[in-house]
Amino acid sequence: MSENDTTGSPSRWLIRIPEIFAPFTDEILRGLGATSEKSFGREYHLVQASDPEVFRKSKAAKYLGWNLPIHHAWPCVPQKMENFIEKAAQGIFKKFGEAKPQTILTGALISTAPHPYYRHLATNLRGRTLQLFPTLPAAGVDDQRPAIPSLFCLVGKEGLYCGLQSPRDSNGFYPGGTKFISQGNSAISRAGAKIAEALHYLQLYRPPLAANAHWLELGASPGGMTSELLNRDYRVTAVDRAAMDSRIVNHKNLDFVRDDVLSYLPPHGTEFDAILCDMNGDGRDSLRSVVRLARHLKPKGLVVFTLKMLAVTTLREADELFSAVVAYAEKSGLNLIAQTHLTYNRFELTLFFEAADVKRS
Ligand SMILES: C[S@@+](CC[C@H](N)C(=O)[O-])C[C@H]1O[C@@H](n2cnc3c(N)ncnc32)[C@H](O)[C@@H]1O
Repeated sequence: MSENDTTGSPSRWLIRIPEIFAPFTDEILRGLGATSEKSFGREYHLVQASDPEVFRKSKAAKYLGWNLPIHHAWPCVPQKMENFIEKAAQGIFKKFGEAKPQTILTGALISTAPHPYYRHLATNLRGRTLQLFPTLPAAGVDDQRPAIPSLFCLVGKEGLYCGLQSPRDSNGFYPGGTKFISQGNSAISRAGAKIAEALHYLQLYRPPLAANAHWLELGASPGGMTSELLNRDYRVTAVDRAAMDSRIVNHKNLDFVRDDVLSYLPPHGTEFDAILCDMNGDGRDSLRSVVRLARHLKPKGLVVFTLKMLAVTTLREADELFSAVVAYAEKSGLNLIAQTHLTYNRFELTLFFEAADVKRS
């Protein structure tokens, strides 16, 4: 087994570059100052990097889906290993028994693999490992505190890779970052999964909005995201030039305005808790509409904004678009609190802003 120290900064990291950014892998690694040791499947890379801050602070970090410092690795083929679970669990306990993680979470190294073998192995490994540790403060994924280290373990046909890091620093509560959102055949649109994942992700940074909070949704048709908001007992004012799905258009908590966002004005005195914008078109234009309507946000109100990058062909163009949008938002009193590529995002990033504490006139 090759092992790093859990107290110092390891030099090996497991990073996940979403498949959609795969053509930019070399540039992303250069931006992180990291060199690739090995790739696992299409998204995971074991890399060497000397400065842990690059995973949080470099421009390239926004293209990572998830990251983990590797404090303990066991390269092997679990399927061919006798008593893999027992040996792996004992190895984890020996390494991290004193480290007091808030919880232990295990996942398959290639979380999207159709074959469930490694997902089952991961579940069984967690079960056995938890038997060895004393009771841990967080029972599961949703009990985690964002800034407290969890022990994340990923297992796949390449072996076992474990690291201790907070969910916030890893960029997600789940090992590998993906929260699976089940979308039945009756889902109104794929976008519903995006807002469901975004709201879960946002808990890395702030608690969820209370039920009954009022959302303004720009570019809402046909209503996949709207239905997720309504399912959480939020009130929604939704604006779109196109029609809403007939299953939700008459919902008691929905006020649908069929109009161009450019000419929409909320009724006098309206204050929203949050704005959601998933309009297609140029990201700069969409943000201008958000900024214009943000004067109707309460102090500390939330903005969830999909930054579509359709016309972008290089990472430099993506960086420029991102910087222009963020600079304009911040100049207008919307502070960026987080940005990420969600599993259900396409060629786009989801940005989260918070309105200034005090209203600007
Ligand atoms: C990607 S779709 C939104 C999907 C939606 N979020 C869902 O969950 O089903 C983008 C929407 O933005 C709307 N849109 C774009 N620009 C607009 C504008 N200026 N005014 C009104 N709607 C606009 C389009 O009509 C389209 O329905």
